[in-house]
Amino acid sequence: MRRENMKKIADYDTINYDYSTYWKRREYEHLAEVLALKKLLKDSSGNWFLDIGGSYGRLLPTYYDNYNNPVIIDYSLKTLQKNYSNIKRDFPNTYLIAANAYHLPFKDNSFNGALTVRVLHHIVKPDNYFKEIYRVLEGDSIYIQEFANKLHIKAVIKSLFSLNFSLFKPGPYQQPDKGHHEGSRKHVKVPFYNYDVKWIRENLKQVGFVVKKKLGCSFLRLNLFKRIFSLKQLLFFEKLSQNLLSFTNIAPSIFLKLLVRKESSKKHIKKLEDILVCPKCKDSLNFTKNKATCSSCREEFLKKDNIWDFRV
Ligand SMILES: C[S@@+](CC[C@H](N)C(=O)[O-])C[C@H]1O[C@@H](n2cnc3c(N)ncnc32)[C@H](O)[C@@H]1O
Ligand SMILES: [Zn+2]
Repeated sequence: MRRENMKKIADYDTINYDYSTYWKRREYEHLAEVLALKKLLKDSSGNWFLDIGGSYGRLLPTYYDNYNNPVIIDYSLKTLQKNYSNIKRDFPNTYLIAANAYHLPFKDNSFNGALTVRVLHHIVKPDNYFKEIYRVLEGDSIYIQEFANKLHIKAVIKSLFSLNFSLFKPGPYQQPDKGHHEGSRKHVKVPFYNYDVKWIRENLKQVGFVVKKKLGCSFLRLNLFKRIFSLKQLLFFEKLSQNLLSFTNIAPSIFLKLLVRKESSKKHIKKLEDILVCPKCKDSLNFTKNKATCSSCREEFLKKDNIWDFRV
């Protein structure tokens, strides 16, 4: 993949990519992730919860009952607009906001919990990304970070057989483009990276997160297993593997449950407008019905079909 063709942000709207289509015939992977998240979120609850790159709300059922005010942010305004009615029908307390995860339109310490699932492969600068998430989370909140594990067992075996050792260098590994990456097309390429557990843990630690738990996920993501076993059997073995094998790093997807270590006073925020700020300069906003204007840099942000557009 030539770097000059690559966009810095995976903007699904430029190619009208409907991400929900990706989940057709991937029920096992979806339910394996739900299983992992339910386990990690079991004892967590609070007021404001942020699903970063939450798209059409696939994971809402895993956190909706635990938090009073779930907020989905996503760079794809079209996805949020298209799914607004369905999400509001099934999960009425949810807010949908178009925003860039690198520049969140929220005050410091606004949220009591957050998660990022299947987004980090699009993130070129995880350190900046983690800092921004840490900023908007209150002290003692939990954060769940999922990422594609470049050193999963199948990838390691494949690399060894093909004598391609680039996978084993520390840090991000850019997946070779086979022409079908999420959000990419022939002439529009978006970032697509896999990471290793040690490197991600180190980066999260430097920002101020403390790792509380690690879970492997999608242990049986192999066509052979999918042909042999029924969905029920796959999920039975998945549950067993999540319980027994998560101390290894063999799974293709890794979930880390993190705690935010910082001092911050408890807030009792009632309205969305009370946590919104200008994503550029983080100063306060003046609201009219469908427009928010920054009191400092004067940047204007519009509400488009019920969705605030804070993308910068
Ligand atoms: C592969 S999808 C995953 C969606 C959802 N988290 C899930 O697991 O079902 C990646 C999502 O991340 C969003 N995204 C990518 N880069 C982003 C950024 N910089 N800021 C906000 N959203 C971003 C995309 O628009 C897309 O909806
Ligand atoms: Zn501003």
